[in-house]
Amino acid sequence: MKHQMANRNLCFFLILLLGLNQSSVFCWKKDEFRNCNQTPFCKRARALKPGSCSLVADNVAISDGELTAKLISKKQDNQEDESQIKPLILTLSVYQDGIMRLKIDEDPSLDPPKKRFEVADVIVSEFPSKKLWLQRLSTETLGGDASPSSIAYLSEGYEAIIRHEPFEVYVRDRAGNRVVSFNSHGLFDFEQLRQKKEGDDWEERFRGHTDTRPYGPQSISFDVTFYEADFVYGIPEHATNLALKPSRGPGVEESEPYRLFNLDVFEYIHDSPFGIYGSVPFMISHGKSRGTSGFFWLNAAEMQIDVLGSGWDAESGISLPSSQSRIDTFWMSEAGIVDAFFFVGPGPKDAIRQYTSVTGTQAMPQLFSIAYHQCRWNYRDEEDVVNVDSKFDEHDIPYDVLWLDIEHTDGKRYFTWDRVLFPHPEEMQNKLAAKGRHMVTIVDPHIKRDESFQLHKEATQKGYYVKDAGGNDYDGWCWPGSSSYPDTLNPEIRSWWAEKFSFQNYVGSTPSLYIWNDMNEPSVFNGPELTMPRDALHYGGVEHRELHNAYGYYFHMATSDGLVKRGNGKDRPFVLSRALFSGTQRHGAVWTGDNTADWDHLRVSVPMILTLGLTGMSFSGADVGGFFGNPEPELLVRWYQVGAYYPFFRGHAHHDTKRREPWLFGERNTELIRDAIHVRYALLPYFYTLFREANTSGVPVMRPLWMEFPFEEATFGNDEAFMVGNSLLVQGIYTERAKHASVYLPGKQSWYDLITGTAYKGGMSHKIEVSEESIPAFQRAGTIVPRKDRFRRSSTQMANDPYVLVIALNSSQAAEGELYIDDGKSFEFQQGAYIHRPFCVLGRETCIVKPSIISSSR
Ligand code: GLC
Repeated sequence: MKHQMANRNLCFFLILLLGLNQSSVFCWKKDEFRNCNQTPFCKRARALKPGSCSLVADNVAISDGELTAKLISKKQDNQEDESQIKPLILTLSVYQDGIMRLKIDEDPSLDPPKKRFEVADVIVSEFPSKKLWLQRLSTETLGGDASPSSIAYLSEGYEAIIRHEPFEVYVRDRAGNRVVSFNSHGLFDFEQLRQKKEGDDWEERFRGHTDTRPYGPQSISFDVTFYEADFVYGIPEHATNLALKPSRGPGVEESEPYRLFNLDVFEYIHDSPFGIYGSVPFMISHGKSRGTSGFFWLNAAEMQIDVLGSGWDAESGISLPSSQSRIDTFWMSEAGIVDAFFFVGPGPKDAIRQYTSVTGTQAMPQLFSIAYHQCRWNYRDEEDVVNVDSKFDEHDIPYDVLWLDIEHTDGKRYFTWDRVLFPHPEEMQNKLAAKGRHMVTIVDPHIKRDESFQLHKEATQKGYYVKDAGGNDYDGWCWPGSSSYPDTLNPEIRSWWAEKFSFQNYVGSTPSLYIWNDMNEPSVFNGPELTMPRDALHYGGVEHRELHNAYGYYFHMATSDGLVKRGNGKDRPFVLSRALFSGTQRHGAVWTGDNTADWDHLRVSVPMILTLGLTGMSFSGADVGGFFGNPEPELLVRWYQVGAYYPFFRGHAHHDTKRREPWLFGERNTELIRDAIHVRYALLPYFYTLFREANTSGVPVMRPLWMEFPFEEATFGNDEAFMVGNSLLVQGIYTERAKHASVYLPGKQSWYDLITGTAYKGGMSHKIEVSEESIPAFQRAGTIVPRKDRFRRSSTQMANDPYVLVIALNSSQAAEGELYIDDGKSFEFQQGAYIHRPFCVLGRETCIVKPSIISSSR
């Protein structure tokens, strides 16, 4: 890409001038992106004062098993007041497992100029059937309030409450303690759509781009409070800590809010609330006294979220229950409606189960796709592919998938091959397949506007492209030059796109070929903030601003459906996507995009992947080695050692970097990388079992320590170590020439070093000696981990190898674990074609095995 190439050259120049460690700071083109102050809805919302909401809940009633109300303004008498808000419609419904849903939208009977966008196809089809029909509502004035509240049943232990005036919604437990609340600080604001009048200037300009904003400002903002919370987590994707730092408040260095706006950010920095490729508006809170709760706002427009430091509202005069500690947050979105879900937990795994019961659990991957992937921009030609493939064998390093980036195509026309460089694509794939290996090719959403390109001709004729504000096919600049983008919001276009993956249509593809969707934010090099203009138009007259964060999601979904269709519904798809949204977990894997080969990026990869896992996306990883720049061998080795535990494990590099296949750094480093990859291959049965757990319960494969030790405060802020399942604890090494690492081992039981078997006491920190050979990793006493210890060329060749069970007894001489096996490939597991075997070593007590895998949900 010219744009990125130019940046890159400039970057090298600056590196020379300024020294290596400053490179990323100077290459991140901050000015290309808007900050909150340059974003009118964000600036306006941040200026709101607590208590400014003047709405009251009126006509509270039960209808169709839901609680309904009108939100009316107290200033109703002044009919001429332009800022006057028309009544809004509120519905509150409750679902099994303690889930409360709150919707607030304009009243259709008042003829708004347009229906506001509601994100479709994210909520799983089974969810509506879990609705509990509300029958009864009690109305009481609760302690300290001046106005009544309506109280509805939520679950055994919880109630859903609407206070009428000032309007507030919350969940509380039966003892009266609040769990999560909405508008407790009176910051709710809803800009209604209006017809443009003479003199209204709604246009917005940013760096030479004009957004026509035909419906005027239409943002929504509100505050959400989490009670008994020590920390909040979630809302990926940001390159930052796992526990979210406050962005505003006394004593807090005011920063940008956490931005959720899918963007292709060139050389993103490792510690920033800035929005990058994906957005999941789901926040989770955790504290030692109560546990976990969650809040999810299903809205695909640009969102900005403040985490408020305590005392931020000092002058508001609003008093919340003072006996409860809390974390306040402030949510702002440019468009859409309020469609919010409240989750009561109370355990971390409960909250994730609740969230994934709304948005779906991780799709069960094919076994090969959780093994090691080798990628580079680009493997040049067939000869290069053959060489790389045979070198893995020569060096006795297993791998499963070889990837081809954009240069394999004929002029960046996806679904084609550069026939000079890749004259025999089928033969090339078949040769890999003979060793049980697979190939992945890239298919991006930008379609080259070339009259001789059949795909473009067809999309143009059928009217399948996203339109610009003037109604013409939107034309933006990306890898192929002038490009247009399929409007995959439309189900008909998704199914057309899916057909393109049939073996007949995708000439040169074979059953061992899978797909990589990149640049689907969408990335547009000459667009505002490198993406599509907000006033571009989609199916049904939906403005791009309303669905922006879900564009890549629909594209990923269509591609993934295509792979299912091409195999007549038999095989599970594998599609890696860069852009992501709530629900992406149902369609495949994601990675954290274009990171940099430095120690900070290695370190931040862990909280980034943990955060994705907390929001249901188990199948994620980071480019091992770092995409930009050349890692020193030590960094590369350390990255492989951590990466071997990422749920998605792929080495990748920018085309300007030096080649870095595992055997290029001398014998010793080759050996170290081989050992790291071997660790992953040995643990494949364990990982696969964990993926099945994620598939059934939503609980992520890679977990923060507090998910397994929710009452141990020392774990809450720890994002340098992580759990793989409930049995392994891994501590990354993020500094050069480390000789020691301080490792906190939680719990009352012991931990066994994975390599030496040395036992360590739980519940304390240990200073552990570190060698170049491995990073600290431990098995928890009382667990059984299934492995396969024979090394082959690829995971498929290990199919008939024996299992090894590693039993780590606890102090009662007991241990338990489980193993899940199926054909690793098809959907037959959904019909019960699997073995799920719990294991148990009896100790002094009776050992009851409760497999975490109980039912098949997909
Ligand atoms: C983007 C991707 C990167 C890929 C490159 C070329 O920068 O994030 O992984 O190699 O495009 O396709």
